[in-house]
Amino acid sequence: MGKERNNFGSKIGIVLATAGSAVGLGNIWRFPFMTGENGGAAFILIYIGCILLLGIPGMISEFIVGRHAATNAVSAYGKLASGKGWKIIGVLGIVSATIILGFYSVVAGWCLQYLYASVAGRLNGDSAYVSNYFAAFSGSVVMPIVWGLVFILLTHLVVIRGVRNGIEKASKMFMPILFVLLLIIVIASCLLPGAGRGIEFLFKPDFSKVDGGVFLSALGQAFFSLSLGTACLCTYASYFGKQTNLMRSASQIALIDSMIAILAGLMIFPAAFSVGVSPDSGPSLIFITLPSVFQQAFAAVPMVGYVISILFYALLALAAITSTISMHEIGTVFFHEQLKLSRKSAAAIVTVVAAIICVFCSLSVGACDGLQLFGMSLMDFFDFLTAQIMLPVGALLTCVYVGWVAPRKVVQHEFTNGSNARSILFTVYLFAARFVCPVCIILIFLNQFGVI
Ligand code: PHE
Repeated sequence: MGKERNNFGSKIGIVLATAGSAVGLGNIWRFPFMTGENGGAAFILIYIGCILLLGIPGMISEFIVGRHAATNAVSAYGKLASGKGWKIIGVLGIVSATIILGFYSVVAGWCLQYLYASVAGRLNGDSAYVSNYFAAFSGSVVMPIVWGLVFILLTHLVVIRGVRNGIEKASKMFMPILFVLLLIIVIASCLLPGAGRGIEFLFKPDFSKVDGGVFLSALGQAFFSLSLGTACLCTYASYFGKQTNLMRSASQIALIDSMIAILAGLMIFPAAFSVGVSPDSGPSLIFITLPSVFQQAFAAVPMVGYVISILFYALLALAAITSTISMHEIGTVFFHEQLKLSRKSAAAIVTVVAAIICVFCSLSVGACDGLQLFGMSLMDFFDFLTAQIMLPVGALLTCVYVGWVAPRKVVQHEFTNGSNARSILFTVYLFAARFVCPVCIILIFLNQFGVI
């Protein structure tokens, strides 16, 4: 099977496609609202700690499993060490990625609506108007569902084109545009009157607000943002070449991902404080803050705000699609390789399941607010279940599998690409995968669920 597989074509393609999976609404939509709900700078510091101590070793572990096996996530977890039971990690990954694809598409659909509204000039008005616009749109039945489904369909169309033509090309094109546009909006936002308080909120930590819940939220955000724990990285690594340096790639991707998240914070909070939107407004934060930025910051020059607003929502949709492609790809390649279905039919299964989840999640935050589980809307429940439970569990099991169960020689061979030159780094990595990751994740769980 390995030889027939289509791989990523270039080093830069590998980094950009994997960074494309990592960078998405997790950075630009979820990171700001989680930061806002969890007190600002202190949350960010814990988040960065989670990326460095747990995220990077976790990513390397998934890379090792995927590249070594060069197959879909479920088979991959059976290849590095004997014992079929470990395949469950791959199954768990596919399930969580498909659930995420379902609710993530709801928000990606909101981006499409905002793109359309920007083009039509419908986002002009004061901040009360913009808030009402969001409430009216997200509370309606049909349009949010239509946009969510359109988004899943677009993802489907890229995925069926395959790895090199679809995923890699899309990422190479979109990632650099995303970065430049983000920088322009950050500068505009930081120049708004009263922006300083937003910058302070982002960079001046107040540890009095930190509790176990903040740790779990930061952990979940770090893993969600890195696409870690869903076997997504494992699947992408199965397309890596034998020369790819796994540690370097993981570090580069974590750096790009974190930089984009912080930039997103710098884009939202100065603007939110400037227009009087509360930082803990939740998932609607970027949708009720940014339209005002585009109007106010660029008011002096006609049309600039209009164009930037269009570009921004286009960018958000692009960032989202490079991530949804990766969520979709995990299930698609699994059904394609395991059930011997054509890529198209395999992709269709994932599309249908995600579409059903998308419809219910969309209704749960709009027209049918009775659609709840454990006191949360279905959408919030799925977000909590995946980001704060399934992803950490997936990453924890992966670290245990690679650190304790897999033969050390094979793991070392993958880490060093066959040479022993970087063995100190390997020792550090192995220590993190064996001890630091499992212990920290378990402690955070125990603390959150009241055991310690
Ligand atoms: N990392 C993506 C983002 O930040 C979301 C994602 C989660 C992608 C899990 C794949 C798997 O938007």
